[in-house]
Amino acid sequence: MKFWKFSTQALASLLTAVSVVNASGPTDGEAAADPNSAVVQLTTSEFKSFMDANPLVLTEFFAPWCGYCKVLGPEFAQAADSLNESHPNIKLAQVDCTVEEELCMEHGIRGYPSLKIMRGSEAAPEDYDGPREAAGIADYMIKQSLPAVSSPVETEELTSLIDAQEKPYIIQVLPEGYNGDKDKANSDETFAEVANENRKDLTFISVENKDLVDSLKSKLPKASLNKVKSPKYLLVRPDSPEDITEFSATLDKESLTSFIKTEIVPYFGDINRDTFLMYMTSPLPLGYYFYNNEEERKVVEETFKKLGKEYRGKINFVGLDANVFGRHAEALNMNPEVVPLFAIQNLQENKKYGISQEENPKGPSTKTIEKFVKDFIKGKVDPIVKSEPLPTKEEIANQSVVKLVSHNHDDILKDTSKDILVKYYAPWCGHCKKLAPTWEELAGIFGSNKPDSKVVIADLDHTANDVNTPVEIAGYPTLVFYPANGKIDSKTGLREAVVYDKPRELDSLIEYIKEQGGHKIDGNQLRESKEAIVEEDEVNHDEL
Ligand SMILES: *[C@@H]1O[C@H](CO)[C@@H](O)[C@H](O)[C@H]1NC(C)=O
Ligand SMILES: *[C@@H]1O[C@H](CO)[C@@H](O)[C@H](O)[C@H]1NC(C)=O
Repeated sequence: MKFWKFSTQALASLLTAVSVVNASGPTDGEAAADPNSAVVQLTTSEFKSFMDANPLVLTEFFAPWCGYCKVLGPEFAQAADSLNESHPNIKLAQVDCTVEEELCMEHGIRGYPSLKIMRGSEAAPEDYDGPREAAGIADYMIKQSLPAVSSPVETEELTSLIDAQEKPYIIQVLPEGYNGDKDKANSDETFAEVANENRKDLTFISVENKDLVDSLKSKLPKASLNKVKSPKYLLVRPDSPEDITEFSATLDKESLTSFIKTEIVPYFGDINRDTFLMYMTSPLPLGYYFYNNEEERKVVEETFKKLGKEYRGKINFVGLDANVFGRHAEALNMNPEVVPLFAIQNLQENKKYGISQEENPKGPSTKTIEKFVKDFIKGKVDPIVKSEPLPTKEEIANQSVVKLVSHNHDDILKDTSKDILVKYYAPWCGHCKKLAPTWEELAGIFGSNKPDSKVVIADLDHTANDVNTPVEIAGYPTLVFYPANGKIDSKTGLREAVVYDKPRELDSLIEYIKEQGGHKIDGNQLRESKEAIVEEDEVNHDEL
């Protein structure tokens, strides 16, 4: 079961320009390409087999009403036709997201048009960031079809290739005379596979004959290239040529990929739209330094580079411009008003750690940061948990709706003897306020706050309490049902959960609890018997 990390989501939404274009965009042709063109219209059922059958596909996810899609449609068709003639291995396809809603959701489509490059159904699709007119699209895709590994044959070719690199890149160095060997084929194949999957982000170079290795030695004096006996893989950083990292594990696709993913992360980078995914997909904790301006960043840069190098593979460090992304501090349980600040997020465990802002109102010194990081690595720092206080006994007795906060959320959800329906809300949310009276009535019917109640109606202010949930809380209110005697997720220790997606009305809610609950408690019966008692009381009263 996926364990949702609210704060990651929050940063994603801050960073992602959600550009769902509405009907007022420019218009030209039709968004759907001419049916006589070589563009293939794909439906959900054909999608996978089409991807399996075609090694390179550019897929456009579109909506017929979207203005920019209408501009792109004819260009896309023209590019497809020209590729169909010159490079029939390259396919262009379209998916209409108003019809294939689920397929588009699976691909995380947030705006139209979205273009993705796909290489079979196994490899993760890459975003297309090339031109949007016919000739440009065709050229870009032809480049994509070329080998991902550059294998220069002349020394000049090699040196100019190396000089042209601005970002970290990977070199495979094969031993002299490795030619024809079975091992060589294996290394080449693995290298090519990894290169293919990462070709957009990185350059892959392969070098094998002696002259080339010699010229590489003089280009990269810090690389140990004497008497290469088995294939070597080096990660070279053009901006820091003394830092060449060598891959030392046994070569296979996974280990080389993970080496690259760890090593291409800069010792101290910046987090922004381009780098967000790189950091979020790394399993390592992430240390954030929030700064107001470049001067503040410069003060700590050397310290963080040093720390990044020292703790490589244990923690990554990034700078974050508080003017743009300052609100993310809240998701780290820090005060966004007090910047510079330093906090660490453990994405795997969804825990946050921060240097006290009360003690460092002007921002932590580099010395304080170094000590904090050291203590963190040793496990000597406690996470910050954002929670409202636990409700008092009186509050519990007074409220039919059971108030959940971070401190009691997991305990209550571990109690498998009860059917629990939780409303995750935000205080500012209008739909939540509208639902509040229904929620109270529902809780009243079940006597939800009584210790012996088998049905618990609860709520949690999701803006004030940092909780892990077994399902994503994507909007407010999100109603999550934890049926009694439900299965326990071994990882989280929490119960299986279902998002309630029926009407938010009393009758539907009662019906749902009766149908889906472990105890099959009928709220209507409870309600009737309560009303009967009230009526009896009234009758008695009248008689008196
Ligand atoms: C694609 O190319 C093939 C082979 O040249 C041709 O038979 C076919 O009609 C073309 N398809 C379109 C839609 O132009
Ligand atoms: C509980 O309810 C009683 C009676 O309505 C009220 O006087 C009291 O202030 C309430 N206590 C709390 C903690 O809300």
